[in-house]
Amino acid sequence: MSAPSDQSLPDQSLPDFATRRAEARSALDALDPAMQADTPDFDPLRREWFETVYARAGGDPACVPWANLAPHPLTKDWVDTQARGIVGMSVLDVGCGLGDNAEYLAAAGADVVAFDLVAGAVDWAKRRFPETKVDYLAGDLFSLPAAWMGRFDLVHECYTLQALTPALLPRALDALAALLAPAGRLLIVARAAGESDDVSGPPWPLRPSFFEAAQDKLKILALEDITATAKVGRRHWRALLAPAHP
Ligand SMILES: C[S@@+](CC[C@H](N)C(=O)[O-])C[C@H]1O[C@@H](n2cnc3c(N)ncnc32)[C@H](O)[C@@H]1O
Repeated sequence: MSAPSDQSLPDQSLPDFATRRAEARSALDALDPAMQADTPDFDPLRREWFETVYARAGGDPACVPWANLAPHPLTKDWVDTQARGIVGMSVLDVGCGLGDNAEYLAAAGADVVAFDLVAGAVDWAKRRFPETKVDYLAGDLFSLPAAWMGRFDLVHECYTLQALTPALLPRALDALAALLAPAGRLLIVARAAGESDDVSGPPWPLRPSFFEAAQDKLKILALEDITATAKVGRRHWRALLAPAHP
C-alpha cells in the first residue's frame, strides 16, 4: 500500500532542505520556553510555541522540525503487518502535524479523524491532501469533544507524547485511555530513553516508567524496544495498549 503523494514537496535529499531545517531548528529552540533556563513557569502546553513553528515555516516543511513528509516507518510497518488489516476501523490520530500518518491510516481503509493543537497545521495538512478522506480538526488532547469518548477502535500517536511537558503525561494517558472503545487499541510510537538516562528535552523520550504508570488504566499488549537503525535513527518504543477494564 502507498500513501497519497504530495507532488508539491521539496526534495528532502537536497542539501538546502537540510540547511533550512537546521536553521529553523536553532531559531525555534531559541524561542522555545522549555529550552530556556529563565522561563521556569512557562505554559506547559507550549501552545504559543507550537503555533509559532507552523506560522514561521510559511509553508516550507523543512522548517517544521518533525515533518518527515512520509508516514513514520514504525507506524507504516505496524499497519502493513496487521493480519486482518484496519479497513473500516474508526481511527484517531493525535497531534497529526502535516498529516502523513493520518493519510497512511486512511489509505489502509480506516475511517480517520486527525487533530492537532495548531489550526495552522491542520489547514496545511488539508492543503497538502486536497482529496483526503481524513477528517482534520484543530483540537487539544486535554479538551476533546465528549462525543469522542469511548469511540475509537484505534488511537494512534506518533511523537506527540514526547513533545508534551513531562508533567502533562499522566493527564495525557487519561485522555488517550478515555478515547478508546471497549475493544480499542492505543498505538504509541515514540523515542525511548532508559530510566536513568539523561533526558534534556524537548522532546522528552519516554522512559519505561511511563509504561509502568500507564498500567493503572491500560493493559500493555506489546512493548517493543527498537534499537537505532537506519530506518528510525534512534532508540524507539512502539507500544500497543488496550483498556485495562473494558
Ligand atoms: C512532534 S510533533 C509530531 C507530529 C506528527 N504526529 C508527526 O509524527 O509528524 C507533535 C505535534 O503535536 C501537536 N500537539 C502538541 N500538544 C498538543 C495537544 N495538547 N493536543 C493536540 N496536539 C498537540 C503539535 O502541534 C505537533 O503538531
